[in-house]
Amino acid sequence: MEKKRGSFTGGLGFVLAAAGSAVGLGNLWRFPPLAAQYGGGIFILVYIVLALTFGFALMTTEIAIGRKTGSSPVMAYQKLCRKFKFLGYLAAAIPVIILPYYCVIGGWVLKYMMVYLQGMTAEAAGDGFFAAFTGSTVSPLIYFAVYLVATWLIVMGGVEKGIEKISRIMMPLLVLLSIGICIYILTLPGALEGARYYLLPDFSKFSLKTICAAMGQMFFSMSLAMGIMVTYGSYTKKEVCLTKSVNQIELFDTVVALLAGLMVVPAVYIFSGEEGMSSSGPGLMFVTLPKVFGDMAGGRVIGFLFFVLVLFAALTSSVSVMEAIVSVLMEHFGISRKAACTGTLIFALAVGIPVSLGNGIWSGIQILGMDLLTFFDYLSNSVLMPLVALFTCILVGWVIGTKTITDEVTRNGEKFGRKRIYEIMIKYIAPVFLVIILISYTLAQFGGITL
Ligand code: PHE
Repeated sequence: MEKKRGSFTGGLGFVLAAAGSAVGLGNLWRFPPLAAQYGGGIFILVYIVLALTFGFALMTTEIAIGRKTGSSPVMAYQKLCRKFKFLGYLAAAIPVIILPYYCVIGGWVLKYMMVYLQGMTAEAAGDGFFAAFTGSTVSPLIYFAVYLVATWLIVMGGVEKGIEKISRIMMPLLVLLSIGICIYILTLPGALEGARYYLLPDFSKFSLKTICAAMGQMFFSMSLAMGIMVTYGSYTKKEVCLTKSVNQIELFDTVVALLAGLMVVPAVYIFSGEEGMSSSGPGLMFVTLPKVFGDMAGGRVIGFLFFVLVLFAALTSSVSVMEAIVSVLMEHFGISRKAACTGTLIFALAVGIPVSLGNGIWSGIQILGMDLLTFFDYLSNSVLMPLVALFTCILVGWVIGTKTITDEVTRNGEKFGRKRIYEIMIKYIAPVFLVIILISYTLAQFGGITL
């Protein structure tokens, strides 16, 4: 049943597409405030150490699983061990949960890009602009649909002509935009003060919580434990050097997160000091930053460029989420890419509508006291992703053995420099931390207790 699977043209195409998946809203709206709140430089240091050990181990595992089995997640885990069939389904479920709400947020990004294009800088800075927009009925739905269709069109283009091509264009532009905006913001009076606040380590803010926060962030940011890297790994040619690719993807993701911090933290710091950094998530990007752009010389242009940057980052991520679903559907049901894409499109539309309306007329719909968007986000990031990562570690570390993965990595005679670290991570350290993360998330959510 050797059916023709898509593939990336080579190492660079793969790295850019995977980096496209990794670099997303997480880098731009979650990393900067987290770093600012958890001790600046010390958080950054912890994050980098975790990325080089834990992140490296998990990403290598997922890509190697994909490449070894040549399958999408549902089949891939099953091929490794029949008893772990459930893990494939679990991993594949995560993109299904994420896609609709990620596209709703993508629609907001699109809206803000248009707002700056039209020169509505002052309106966007007004109190209540964001709530009024997301709470309205028709407009967010239209932006959501446009964003979703854009994602769909790219995925319809296939692995090489859609995903790889768009990543080759958007990712270099994204880096250029980040650097350009950073330089502009750092030349504003008072910005260096903000940069110092961001970069200087504050050891008094270091605790177990710092590690947990950095770990959670890293997961989300590197698109780990949701079948995406397995899927992309399965499109990777056998001769591509895995460790080098993983290093490059991580470098890309971390550099963009650091740059995001260097633009967002100083910008907010200039206009509202340390308190300004207390908002995170959507609030930072859609409420705080527009106020900053409203006060800044050249705010319209910078605001527009900033949201173009966010749009590129988000699009290459939602494309990877949709592709993970599409690859499973194609493989599982033996259907064409077109049919799989269109089915996914219809599903995401159907689920995205209540998610979007949940901010307005349907705000009454709540699960466990959360609106739909918050609930889906919680379920995927705080429950399923750590679980999938934990089971992956158990599978690789204790059932099939790390050798299965390290052999795949070194199949072309490639050197695996951090092999020892890899083995220790997967077998011992990562599982322990994953259990801590799971417990701490659950306590925080339901017991109101934070570590
Ligand atoms: N890694 C992406 C980010 O940093 C987020 C993402 C989440 C991508 C889920 C794909 C799937 O924003």
